[in-house]
Amino acid sequence: MQIMATRILSSLHHVSSSASAAKRCLGLYCLWHRSISGFGASAAVDVDPSIPPVQIDHSQLLINGQFVDAASGKTFPTYDPRTGDIIANVAEGDREDVNRAVHAARKAFDEGPWPKMTAYERSRVMLRFADLLEKHNDEVAAIETWDNGKTYEQAANVEIPMVVRVFRYYAGWADKIHGLTVPGDGPHHIQTLHEPIGVAGQIVPWNFPLLIYSWKVAPALSCGNTVVLKTAEQTPLSALYVSKLFLEAGLPPGVLNIISGFGPSAGAALCSHMDVDKLAFTGSTSTGKIVLGLSAQSNLKPVTLELGGKSPFIVCKDADVDAAVETAHSAIFFNQGQCCCAGSRTFVHESIYDEFVEKAKARALKRVVGDPFKNGVEQGPQIDSVQFEKILNYIRSGVESGATLESGGQRIGSKGYYIQPTVFSNVQDNMSIAKDEIFGPVQSILKFKDLEEVIRRANATSYGLAAGVFTKNLESANTLMHALRVGTVWINCYDVLDATIPFGGYKMSGQGRVKGMHSLSSYLQVKAVVTAMKNPAWL
Ligand code: NAI
Ligand code: MG
Repeated sequence: MQIMATRILSSLHHVSSSASAAKRCLGLYCLWHRSISGFGASAAVDVDPSIPPVQIDHSQLLINGQFVDAASGKTFPTYDPRTGDIIANVAEGDREDVNRAVHAARKAFDEGPWPKMTAYERSRVMLRFADLLEKHNDEVAAIETWDNGKTYEQAANVEIPMVVRVFRYYAGWADKIHGLTVPGDGPHHIQTLHEPIGVAGQIVPWNFPLLIYSWKVAPALSCGNTVVLKTAEQTPLSALYVSKLFLEAGLPPGVLNIISGFGPSAGAALCSHMDVDKLAFTGSTSTGKIVLGLSAQSNLKPVTLELGGKSPFIVCKDADVDAAVETAHSAIFFNQGQCCCAGSRTFVHESIYDEFVEKAKARALKRVVGDPFKNGVEQGPQIDSVQFEKILNYIRSGVESGATLESGGQRIGSKGYYIQPTVFSNVQDNMSIAKDEIFGPVQSILKFKDLEEVIRRANATSYGLAAGVFTKNLESANTLMHALRVGTVWINCYDVLDATIPFGGYKMSGQGRVKGMHSLSSYLQVKAVVTAMKNPAWL
C-alpha cells in the first residue's frame, strides 16, 4: 500500500510545486487570482478512478494520544465527491467518546505537562509540527482533495502551506502572551495574569477542513489550552492524519483529541459538556444558534462563532473592469463557491454593467471544471448530494424569479457532484439567490446607480462577514470601507486571508475573531491580582 501511495503521489508531482512552502504562500495571491486562459468550455467530467491518491492510515478517534474505536463500535462512511463512492469507514464518535476525550483533555490540562511547560517549549512543539506537516504536504493535500473535492493544486500549493504558516504564526505568540502592571487608586500593586481557559471544544466544517482546524487549534494550544475537536462528518480524514504528526512532534497525550462524528450527537455532546470551558464553532448560522443555546443550557462556556455570509462585491464606475471581473469571478467561484466569505452579491455600477456581465459570462464559460486531481482544473465537485441539490434548487429559483441565466445552470455528467459555473444578471435584491447563502458556484450580478444606494443595499442583510470593493477613487474606497458593516473589507483584492489578519463577522455572521492576535483573547482568562502595599511611597 505504501508503495502504491508513493507511486500515486509521484504521479501528482507535475501538479505540486517542489518549491518551499514559503514560496507557495507567496504564490497564494497569484494562484487564486490568476487568469487562466486557453482552456475550453466546461466539458463532461472525466474522473480517473485510478487516482485514489493516498493510503488512509487513520480512521479511528484520537483520544489521549491513542487511535481508538468508538465506544459503540459504530462507523460511518466518508465519500469521494468525484464519484459518490466510499473512501473509508470512520469511527463514529458519540456522547460516550466525547466524555472520554474531554476527560483526557481535562487531565492533560489540570495535571499534564502542556499548560505547565514553558511557553518556549510549547512553541517548539508547534514549530516541529509545522515542519513535519510541511514535509508531508503532498499526502495531506491528496487526502484533503479526495475527501472534499477541492483541487489538488489549491490544497497542495495554497491551503496546506497556509496551515503550516498559521501554526508557525501562533507558535511565535506562545512566549509573547503576558499580563500587565496596572496603576490603581490606592496603595496596591496591581497586575494581570493571562491564563489559558482550560479545555476548548472546537467544531469545524467541511469546506476548509484543515485550514479551519489550524485557525482553531493553533491559538488554543499557543495559549496553553487543551482541545477536543470534532471534524465535519463529510471530511474526517485530514485532521486525523495531521494530528498523528502532532504526536510525533512531541505533543503530550490528551492535549489534542479528535472526534469524528455527526453534529446532533457528538457535536451537541461537546457543546453541552460541563467540563468544556470554551467553544469555538465554524459553520452555518442556524447551527451556530444551536451551539450558543447548548452553552447557555449547560455551563455558560464562552462561545466564538464564525458563521455564514452574503458578502457584497462592489464594482464602482471607475474600476479596472478586467481586474474586477477576474477578482469577482474568483471571489465567488473559489473552492466551488463553498466559502463563508464568498463574494456572492456582485454589485456593478450601471455605466459598466453590460460590459461587466459579458466579461463575467465569458470568464465563467472558460472555467475548467473536472477531476480535482488533474492539472489545470479550477473547479471540482461540490461536497455532497445535499449541497448539490440545494445549489441546483437555488439555480431553479433564480430562473423562476426572473433573473437572466447568462451561463451554466446544469449539473455536469451523471456521476459525482459537479455543477456548471453559473452566472445570473438582472438579479433583484428580493430574490432568494440575492438573499440566501447558496454556498455554490453561482454568481449573481446586480446593478446600482450611486454609492449611497449601494451602501444601503449591501448592508441590508442579517450577515456581515466580508465585502469587496473595486475602485480607483480614494474617496469611494474610504467611504465604503467605513460604511460597510462587515468584518473584512478587501479593496481591489479579495480573499486575502493571511495568518496575521483577524477574520470574523458583524451581525449574524458571528462573534469574535479567528487569526491574528485578536483570536488569542478568546483562549485566555485575565486574572487581576491586587497586592496591598504597606509603603505606597515605592509605587
Ligand atoms: P453545519 O453548520 O450544520 O455544520 C458545521 C459543523 O457543525 C459540522 O461539524 C457539523 O457536524 C456540526 N453540527 C451540526 N449540527 C450540530 C449540532 N446540533 N450541535 C453541534 N454541532 C453541530 O453546516 P452543514 O449542514 O454542513 O451545511 C449547511 C450550510 O451551512 C451550507 O450550505 C452553508 O450555507 C453553511 N456552511 C457555512 C460554513 C462556513 O464556513 N461559515 C461552513 C459549512 C457550511
Ligand atoms: Mg468526503
